[in-house]
Amino acid sequence: MIYLLLPIVLLLLYKYFTKNHDYWEKRNVKYEKPIPIFGTNYENVIGKKSIIEKATEVYNKYPTEPVVGMFRGTTPELVVRDPEIARKILNVDFAYFYRRGLGKNPEIDPVYYNLFHVEGDLWKLLRQRLTPTFTTAKLKNMFPLIVNCAEKLRHVGEDIVNRGGECDVRDLMARFTVEFIGVCAFGIEMDTINNEHSLFKKLGVRIFKTDFRKYLVTALYDLFPDFRTIIQKLLSNSSSITAITEIFYNIRKQRNYKPIGRNDFIDLLLELEGKGKIIGDSIEKKNADGKPVQVEMEMNITYMAAQMFVFFAAGFETSSSATSFTLHQLAYHPEEQQKIQEEIDRVLSKYNNKLCYDSISEMTALSNGFKEAMRIFPSLGTLHRVCARKYTIPGLNVTLDPGVKIIIPTQGIQNDEKYFDNPSQFIPDRFNDPNVLRHKYAYLPFGGGPRACIGGRLGEMQSLAGLAAILHKFSVEPGPKTQRYPQVNHGSNLIQGVKGGIPLKLRLRNKSNSVAA
Ligand code: HEM
Ligand SMILES: *[C@@H]1O[C@H](CO)[C@@H](O)[C@H](O)[C@H]1NC(C)=O
Ligand SMILES: *[C@@H]1O[C@H](CO)[C@@H](O)[C@H](O)[C@H]1NC(C)=O
Ligand SMILES: *[C@@H]1O[C@H](CO)[C@@H](O)[C@H](O)[C@H]1NC(C)=O
Ligand SMILES: *[C@@H]1O[C@H](CO)[C@@H](O)[C@H](O)[C@H]1NC(C)=O
Repeated sequence: MIYLLLPIVLLLLYKYFTKNHDYWEKRNVKYEKPIPIFGTNYENVIGKKSIIEKATEVYNKYPTEPVVGMFRGTTPELVVRDPEIARKILNVDFAYFYRRGLGKNPEIDPVYYNLFHVEGDLWKLLRQRLTPTFTTAKLKNMFPLIVNCAEKLRHVGEDIVNRGGECDVRDLMARFTVEFIGVCAFGIEMDTINNEHSLFKKLGVRIFKTDFRKYLVTALYDLFPDFRTIIQKLLSNSSSITAITEIFYNIRKQRNYKPIGRNDFIDLLLELEGKGKIIGDSIEKKNADGKPVQVEMEMNITYMAAQMFVFFAAGFETSSSATSFTLHQLAYHPEEQQKIQEEIDRVLSKYNNKLCYDSISEMTALSNGFKEAMRIFPSLGTLHRVCARKYTIPGLNVTLDPGVKIIIPTQGIQNDEKYFDNPSQFIPDRFNDPNVLRHKYAYLPFGGGPRACIGGRLGEMQSLAGLAAILHKFSVEPGPKTQRYPQVNHGSNLIQGVKGGIPLKLRLRNKSNSVAA
């Protein structure tokens, strides 16, 4: 009997683990050859290549294809090489691609009620409610808080110089970012910059540490989509959301459940809490007459704490990765660094040596340097969407079914000579050319369309403030531990990191040519 059953069981398993593997063949799309269970994701599962590295590799391997097929386990996944198709997916035909598809169930761990992870109408309503939190006016109000952090950063820099100047600027900028987010988002001065051991820093490290457990969840998720709920239940650890919820409860109580005019995120969320029900058009359901169904939700503490979490998480690694990589490039381009420093001196002398929203907005050379660093090494090297309704890619005669995953390989696109001359060269001035972008969707450090980064302007301004604070006082140069081309971390699947941080040497600028601060 067993001799009869075994081949049948094996055959069924084989069928299960290779189902869909003919998906791209059938649609006449060039694709990477899948293997059972892993699809094209084997190297990622064993920790040899991040999803971003794999997508970049595929981007470069098929220079003439508009799209290339892959398989996340048995799920078909499409790498969109053509920026025009990327524009359709991210923006024009957003109604088909409003899902990001990270697949976490918020009912198991409420931290996933955050804007980055939620899907469908819940996303729609939350985004609608949170968008007014990020207007320029609100940002300007928040800005004095940023300046405080920037000043602290300078003192830390001085300590480093007194100790010889060598430091990991990745760590330095992370501490600035944590301090900033703590002050702006959570309304507490946590002193991470001066104090190594803070709750926030620990939280930040915990969220982004790729330990084995996390690794396992991600891999299992992708390989066994039918068993996600069980996997998440087995491996979930809700200690982060518990910690954040507790902080939120405390501050909310301190403020007597009302905004206190501090203009930080807690104030803004308390304001939203007071506004009650959120009502809007559904993106998932339509009435018989074709008009969207009206949907609604009530804002509650769980939702608010999850947003606090994402403001911390989404701002933390992205900004510190982008600013430290900018410093790394400037260390190897002293002439660009000097140009930026002279601009900072010039602008600040006009503003009484104060870093403020307006002065930072005037620092074009600095902003160009930051943009160029994000072009070469975007914090998120890929963007992700999932097809929600049957969709035919315009001009390609390829029809995608619901559930098919989409990858926009920004790391690959932004380093393609088709869109940028000498793409591997750090040339901040290219952003002086108003036509620098040959295609608007060939440069997407903050993503694109209705689901682009909600905090992009804030992230940018806060990053520039940190860079200006450092470069006004100090110069950076390669140190003994610096590597010209740092190795990317194969374990970072969402936000790109490099192995061993970004070690550089900090030096006080020549007093003669720097304006006293
Ligand atoms: C330099 C800093 C930052 C970079 C490079 C960055 C980049 C990105 C990117 C690429 C995405 C995905 C967009 C897409 O899929 O099209 C994203 C999403 C998001 N970011 Fe940022 N970000 C930064 C700072 C921030 C900050 C400071 C916040 C919040 C305070 C924030 C909150 C979010 C949220 C909530 C989402 C999800 C939006 C949604 O799904 O509706 N980010 N970010
Ligand atoms: C579109 O693709 C389908 C299936 O691959 C094929 O049968 C059909 O002939 C194609 N049509 C055109 C216009 O290429
Ligand atoms: C959850 O994570 C925290 C911090 O990393 C750890 O102390 C705790 O033991 C974890 N809980 C479980 C159930 O693994
Ligand atoms: C908020 O609403 C969600 C969804 O209905 C629910 O799961 C959660 O428990 C609620 N939180 C509180 C504190 O009521
Ligand atoms: C600093 O100033 C001194 C004296 O003017 C000069 O010799 C030196 O090269 C300067 N260093 C830098 C890095 O500009």
